[in-house]
Amino acid sequence: MEGPDGSGKSTQISELKEYLNDKGYDVLLTREPGGTDIGEQIRKIILDVNNSHLSYMAETLLYAASRAQHVEEKIKPALEAGKVVICDRFIDSSLVYQGYARKLGIELVESINQFALMGIQPDITFFFDIKPEEAMDRKQNQKALDRLEKENISFHHLVYEGYKILLDRYPKRIRRIDASQSIDEVKSQILGEIDRFLKEEGLK
Ligand code: TYD
Repeated sequence: MEGPDGSGKSTQISELKEYLNDKGYDVLLTREPGGTDIGEQIRKIILDVNNSHLSYMAETLLYAASRAQHVEEKIKPALEAGKVVICDRFIDSSLVYQGYARKLGIELVESINQFALMGIQPDITFFFDIKPEEAMDRKQNQKALDRLEKENISFHHLVYEGYKILLDRYPKRIRRIDASQSIDEVKSQILGEIDRFLKEEGLK
């Protein structure tokens, strides 16, 4: 699940988990950065507002380190056990935030992450499409902002643009969801895509 901060991902993640559970699937729900004890420690360093001097490259490598731990400790074993894995953010966040918005280059960040991924790629990625201003408005009503959320609006515009680039680059894997709609409408878009995907794969 990918999208700008405040796009309503968390609500939809719980809905999707419930839907898949009802169909009989065992689901692992997880998130990045974090997802493991070590990953959560790395997450604190990355999102700490006191770490404003963290270099962009160090930031990229920390996200990749958290991801490496996550893939090896949780995601791979879950897939091997036949579970469905739903992850709140994954490699595309690094490609967009560090590769595009921080301007390190999508290709460079992709190659750094090859080490972390151990051959794992999402089967399907949902991009929650919502204008940065609207997402920021929603977020600001919720809680204290972390280090990345405190970035100015032009950064969030770059993030949005970055996701659009990835959509063009991976049209089969990444599905656009209109996240400006109501919770029920967003849910039915996602479940529609999931049903189509399961059917294509010969699953129920
Ligand atoms: P978090 O609070 O988990 O995200 P959300 O806003 O989805 O609730 O914060 C994670 C932040 O880290 C978010 O601003 C996106 C950013 N991020 C990256 O820059 N690169 C990455 O690889 C990942 C996974 C997240």
